[in-house]
Amino acid sequence: MACGTCNCNSPEIENLFMPKEALITETKWMTKDTKHFVLKWADGSKVSHQPGQIVEASLFGFGEIPLGFATSPTQENSFELVIRQVGRVSTALCKLEAGDTMLIRAPLGKGFPLDELRGEKVMIIAGGLGIVPTRSLINYITDRRDEFKSFTLFYGARNPSELLFKEDLVKWRSSKDVHYFETVDGCCEEDNWKGNTGVITTLFKQAEVTPDTKVIICGPPIMYRFVMMELYKCNVPHENVYVDLERRMKCGVGKCGHCQINDKYVCIDGPVFKYSELDSKEEAL
Ligand code: FES
Repeated sequence: MACGTCNCNSPEIENLFMPKEALITETKWMTKDTKHFVLKWADGSKVSHQPGQIVEASLFGFGEIPLGFATSPTQENSFELVIRQVGRVSTALCKLEAGDTMLIRAPLGKGFPLDELRGEKVMIIAGGLGIVPTRSLINYITDRRDEFKSFTLFYGARNPSELLFKEDLVKWRSSKDVHYFETVDGCCEEDNWKGNTGVITTLFKQAEVTPDTKVIICGPPIMYRFVMMELYKCNVPHENVYVDLERRMKCGVGKCGHCQINDKYVCIDGPVFKYSELDSKEEAL
Protein backbone atom coordinates (compact mmCIF):
# COMPACT_ATOMS: atom_id res chain seq x y z
CA MET A 1 0.00 0.00 0.00
CA ALA A 2 1.32 3.49 -0.81
CA CYS A 3 2.20 5.94 1.91
CA GLY A 4 -0.93 7.78 3.01
CA THR A 5 0.91 10.83 4.29
CA CYS A 6 2.83 12.24 1.34
CA ASN A 7 1.73 10.16 -1.66
CA CYS A 8 5.22 8.71 -2.08
CA ASN A 9 5.64 5.08 -3.07
CA SER A 10 6.90 4.00 0.34
CA PRO A 11 5.07 1.30 2.19
CA GLU A 12 2.53 2.90 4.48
CA ILE A 13 3.98 3.91 7.81
CA GLU A 14 1.89 4.72 10.83
CA ASN A 15 2.93 8.25 11.68
CA LEU A 16 5.65 10.28 9.97
CA PHE A 17 5.94 12.54 13.03
CA MET A 18 6.71 9.64 15.37
CA PRO A 19 10.40 8.66 15.48
CA LYS A 20 11.42 5.03 15.85
CA GLU A 21 14.36 3.83 17.88
CA ALA A 22 17.33 2.53 15.90
CA LEU A 23 20.20 0.62 17.48
CA ILE A 24 23.73 1.45 16.31
CA THR A 25 25.65 -1.75 15.64
CA GLU A 26 28.88 -0.34 14.15
CA THR A 27 30.54 3.02 13.73
CA LYS A 28 33.65 4.19 11.93
CA TRP A 29 35.20 7.59 11.26
CA MET A 30 35.53 7.86 7.46
CA THR A 31 37.37 11.20 7.59
CA LYS A 32 38.29 13.47 10.50
CA ASP A 33 34.76 14.92 10.62
CA THR A 34 32.54 12.33 8.91
CA LYS A 35 31.26 9.21 10.66
CA HIS A 36 29.65 6.08 9.26
CA PHE A 37 26.89 4.32 11.21
CA VAL A 38 25.39 0.87 10.71
CA LEU A 39 21.98 0.59 12.37
CA LYS A 40 19.01 -1.71 12.73
CA TRP A 41 15.53 -1.02 14.00
CA ALA A 42 15.37 -1.67 17.74
CA ASP A 43 12.03 -3.49 17.32
CA GLY A 44 13.66 -5.94 14.88
CA SER A 45 11.54 -4.88 11.89
CA LYS A 46 12.90 -5.10 8.35
CA VAL A 47 14.29 -2.05 6.59
CA SER A 48 11.98 -0.86 3.85
CA HIS A 49 12.71 2.19 1.70
CA GLN A 50 13.39 3.25 -1.87
CA PRO A 51 16.96 4.22 -2.86
CA GLY A 52 17.21 8.01 -2.55
CA GLN A 53 14.65 8.42 0.23
CA ILE A 54 15.64 10.30 3.35
CA VAL A 55 15.53 9.95 7.13
CA GLU A 56 15.27 12.48 9.93
CA ALA A 57 17.74 11.44 12.64
CA SER A 58 17.46 12.89 16.14
CA LEU A 59 18.71 12.85 19.67
CA PHE A 60 16.62 14.10 22.62
CA GLY A 61 17.68 17.57 23.73
CA PHE A 62 19.56 18.36 20.53
CA GLY A 63 17.21 18.22 17.56
CA GLU A 64 16.82 16.53 14.24
CA ILE A 65 18.71 16.49 10.91
CA PRO A 66 17.84 15.11 7.48
CA LEU A 67 20.12 12.45 6.01
CA GLY A 68 20.02 10.20 2.97
CA PHE A 69 19.96 6.42 3.29
CA ALA A 70 23.44 5.21 2.35
CA THR A 71 22.20 1.69 1.71
CA SER A 72 19.91 -0.05 -0.71
CA PRO A 73 16.70 -1.81 0.38
CA THR A 74 18.33 -4.98 -1.00
CA GLN A 75 20.18 -4.92 2.36
CA GLU A 76 17.17 -5.86 4.47
CA ASN A 77 18.38 -6.24 8.04
CA SER A 78 20.40 -3.09 8.57
CA PHE A 79 20.83 0.36 7.10
CA GLU A 80 23.68 2.84 7.03
CA LEU A 81 23.92 6.58 7.56
CA VAL A 82 26.81 8.99 7.24
CA ILE A 83 26.95 12.11 9.39
CA ARG A 84 29.32 15.04 8.93
CA GLN A 85 29.93 17.13 12.06
CA VAL A 86 28.82 20.59 11.02
CA GLY A 87 26.48 21.74 13.79
CA ARG A 88 25.07 21.01 17.21
CA VAL A 89 22.87 18.06 16.26
CA SER A 90 25.35 16.37 13.93
CA THR A 91 28.15 16.80 16.50
CA ALA A 92 25.99 15.20 19.20
CA LEU A 93 25.01 12.33 16.90
CA CYS A 94 28.65 11.75 15.97
CA LYS A 95 29.45 11.11 19.65
CA LEU A 96 27.25 8.00 19.58
CA GLU A 97 28.89 4.59 19.41
CA ALA A 98 27.86 0.96 18.85
CA GLY A 99 25.25 -0.03 21.44
CA ASP A 100 23.75 3.49 21.59
CA THR A 101 20.46 4.36 19.94
CA MET A 102 19.24 7.29 17.88
CA LEU A 103 15.71 8.19 16.84
CA ILE A 104 14.72 8.03 13.20
CA ARG A 105 11.71 9.12 11.16
CA ALA A 106 11.76 7.31 7.83
CA PRO A 107 11.38 6.69 4.99
CA LEU A 108 10.59 10.23 3.81
CA GLY A 109 10.29 11.78 0.35
CA LYS A 110 10.49 10.29 -3.10
CA GLY A 111 13.57 8.37 -4.13
CA PHE A 112 15.09 7.49 -7.50
CA PRO A 113 12.54 6.45 -10.15
CA LEU A 114 13.51 2.80 -10.40
CA ASP A 115 10.80 2.06 -12.95
CA GLU A 116 12.26 4.68 -15.31
CA LEU A 117 15.83 3.44 -14.77
CA ARG A 118 15.25 -0.30 -15.14
CA GLY A 119 16.34 -1.62 -18.53
CA GLU A 120 18.27 1.59 -19.27
CA LYS A 121 21.86 2.77 -19.41
CA VAL A 122 22.43 4.49 -16.08
CA MET A 123 25.09 6.97 -15.07
CA ILE A 124 25.57 8.41 -11.57
CA ILE A 125 27.63 11.55 -11.02
CA ALA A 126 28.39 12.08 -7.33
CA GLY A 127 30.47 14.87 -5.83
CA GLY A 128 31.57 15.08 -2.18
CA LEU A 129 28.85 13.93 0.21
CA GLY A 130 26.65 13.23 -2.84
CA ILE A 131 28.12 9.73 -2.85
CA VAL A 132 26.17 8.96 0.35
CA PRO A 133 22.55 9.04 -0.94
CA THR A 134 23.57 7.81 -4.39
CA ARG A 135 25.22 4.76 -2.79
CA SER A 136 21.68 3.56 -2.03
CA LEU A 137 21.13 3.38 -5.81
CA ILE A 138 24.66 2.20 -6.66
CA ASN A 139 24.22 -0.79 -4.35
CA TYR A 140 20.70 -1.43 -5.67
CA ILE A 141 22.01 -1.55 -9.25
CA THR A 142 25.03 -3.72 -8.46
CA ASP A 143 22.80 -6.10 -6.43
CA ARG A 144 20.35 -6.37 -9.35
CA ARG A 145 22.80 -5.85 -12.15
CA ASP A 146 20.88 -7.78 -14.82
CA GLU A 147 17.93 -5.35 -14.55
CA PHE A 148 20.01 -2.47 -15.98
CA LYS A 149 22.08 -1.94 -19.14
CA SER A 150 25.48 -0.25 -18.79
CA PHE A 151 26.24 1.39 -15.45
CA THR A 152 28.75 4.25 -15.18
CA LEU A 153 29.76 5.99 -11.97
CA PHE A 154 31.70 9.26 -11.64
CA TYR A 155 32.84 10.16 -8.13
CA GLY A 156 34.79 13.24 -7.18
CA ALA A 157 36.11 14.53 -3.86
CA ARG A 158 38.18 17.53 -2.82
CA ASN A 159 41.26 15.44 -2.06
CA PRO A 160 42.13 11.74 -1.57
CA SER A 161 41.53 11.81 2.20
CA GLU A 162 37.96 13.05 1.60
CA LEU A 163 37.01 10.03 -0.53
CA LEU A 164 34.32 8.10 1.36
CA PHE A 165 33.49 4.36 1.36
CA LYS A 166 37.10 3.38 0.62
CA GLU A 167 36.26 -0.35 0.72
CA ASP A 168 33.60 0.20 -1.95
CA LEU A 169 36.06 2.14 -4.09
CA VAL A 170 38.47 -0.79 -4.09
CA LYS A 171 35.59 -3.04 -5.23
CA TRP A 172 34.28 -0.63 -7.89
CA ARG A 173 37.74 -0.06 -9.39
CA SER A 174 37.99 -3.72 -10.37
CA SER A 175 34.29 -4.56 -10.83
CA LYS A 176 32.84 -5.59 -14.18
CA ASP A 177 29.41 -4.38 -12.97
CA VAL A 178 30.28 -0.69 -13.03
CA HIS A 179 32.40 1.57 -15.24
CA TYR A 180 33.91 3.52 -12.38
CA PHE A 181 35.81 6.80 -12.78
CA GLU A 182 37.13 8.92 -9.92
CA THR A 183 38.87 12.20 -9.44
CA VAL A 184 40.06 14.59 -6.75
CA ASP A 185 40.18 18.35 -7.09
CA GLY A 186 43.73 18.44 -5.74
CA CYS A 187 46.28 16.44 -3.79
CA CYS A 188 49.71 16.74 -2.22
CA GLU A 189 52.76 14.48 -2.47
CA GLU A 190 52.01 12.62 0.78
CA ASP A 191 48.65 11.53 -0.64
CA ASN A 192 50.46 9.30 -3.13
CA TRP A 193 47.43 9.72 -5.43
CA LYS A 194 47.82 8.05 -8.82
CA GLY A 195 44.34 8.81 -10.14
CA ASN A 196 42.80 11.70 -12.04
CA THR A 197 43.19 15.20 -10.67
CA GLY A 198 40.70 17.88 -11.62
CA VAL A 199 37.03 18.71 -11.16
CA ILE A 200 34.46 16.02 -11.84
CA THR A 201 33.71 17.25 -15.36
CA THR A 202 37.26 16.26 -16.43
CA LEU A 203 36.05 12.64 -16.24
CA PHE A 204 33.80 13.19 -19.27
CA LYS A 205 36.94 12.85 -21.43
CA GLN A 206 37.33 9.26 -20.23
CA ALA A 207 33.81 7.89 -20.65
CA GLU A 208 31.38 7.60 -23.50
CA VAL A 209 28.00 9.15 -22.64
CA THR A 210 25.26 8.59 -25.18
CA PRO A 211 22.02 10.64 -25.39
CA ASP A 212 19.89 7.70 -24.26
CA THR A 213 21.70 7.48 -20.89
CA LYS A 214 19.68 8.20 -17.73
CA VAL A 215 21.88 10.41 -15.58
CA ILE A 216 21.62 11.00 -11.82
CA ILE A 217 23.50 13.94 -10.29
CA CYS A 218 24.12 14.59 -6.61
CA GLY A 219 26.71 16.93 -5.15
CA PRO A 220 27.47 20.50 -4.14
CA PRO A 221 25.27 23.13 -5.87
CA ILE A 222 28.17 24.51 -7.98
CA MET A 223 28.65 21.10 -9.60
CA TYR A 224 25.23 20.86 -11.27
CA ARG A 225 25.65 23.70 -13.74
CA PHE A 226 29.00 22.45 -15.05
CA VAL A 227 27.84 18.84 -15.25
CA MET A 228 24.74 19.98 -17.17
CA MET A 229 27.00 21.79 -19.65
CA GLU A 230 28.90 18.54 -20.30
CA LEU A 231 25.68 16.56 -20.64
CA TYR A 232 24.45 19.15 -23.14
CA LYS A 233 27.59 18.49 -25.23
CA CYS A 234 26.75 14.76 -25.11
CA ASN A 235 23.17 15.55 -26.29
CA VAL A 236 21.58 14.09 -23.18
CA PRO A 237 18.08 15.64 -22.96
CA HIS A 238 16.88 17.23 -19.69
CA GLU A 239 14.17 14.56 -19.47
CA ASN A 240 16.92 11.95 -18.96
CA VAL A 241 18.56 13.79 -16.07
CA TYR A 242 17.59 13.43 -12.40
CA VAL A 243 18.98 15.55 -9.58
CA ASP A 244 19.06 14.66 -5.90
CA LEU A 245 18.61 17.88 -3.92
CA GLU A 246 19.01 17.09 -0.25
CA ARG A 247 19.15 20.59 1.08
CA ARG A 248 17.63 23.03 3.53
CA MET A 249 15.32 20.39 4.91
CA LYS A 250 13.91 20.58 8.40
CA CYS A 251 10.57 18.90 9.12
CA GLY A 252 10.79 16.44 6.21
CA VAL A 253 7.01 16.29 5.79
CA GLY A 254 5.96 19.44 3.92
CA LYS A 255 5.00 21.55 6.95
CA CYS A 256 7.78 24.08 7.67
CA GLY A 257 8.56 25.43 4.18
CA HIS A 258 12.35 25.43 4.72
CA CYS A 259 13.01 23.28 1.68
CA GLN A 260 10.68 25.10 -0.72
CA ILE A 261 11.90 25.76 -4.28
CA ASN A 262 9.20 27.90 -5.90
CA ASP A 263 6.15 25.59 -5.88
CA LYS A 264 8.09 22.43 -4.96
CA TYR A 265 8.94 21.01 -1.55
CA VAL A 266 12.23 19.10 -1.65
CA CYS A 267 11.10 16.91 1.25
CA ILE A 268 7.89 15.58 -0.28
CA ASP A 269 8.13 16.28 -4.04
CA GLY A 270 11.82 15.17 -3.94
CA PRO A 271 14.60 15.00 -2.92
CA VAL A 272 14.96 13.40 -6.37
CA PHE A 273 13.61 15.52 -9.26
CA LYS A 274 13.67 15.19 -12.99
CA TYR A 275 15.85 18.09 -14.19
CA SER A 276 13.16 19.10 -16.71
CA GLU A 277 10.81 19.79 -13.74
CA LEU A 278 13.29 22.29 -12.30
CA ASP A 279 15.15 23.98 -15.14
CA SER A 280 12.82 26.99 -15.13
CA LYS A 281 13.02 27.42 -11.35
CA GLU A 282 15.64 30.01 -10.48
CA GLU A 283 16.24 28.87 -6.91
CA ALA A 284 16.67 25.21 -7.73
CA LEU A 285 20.25 24.88 -8.95
S1 FES B 1 11.50 20.30 5.21
FE1 FES B 1 9.75 21.26 6.03
S2 FES B 1 8.55 21.64 4.30
FE2 FES B 1 10.22 20.46 3.52
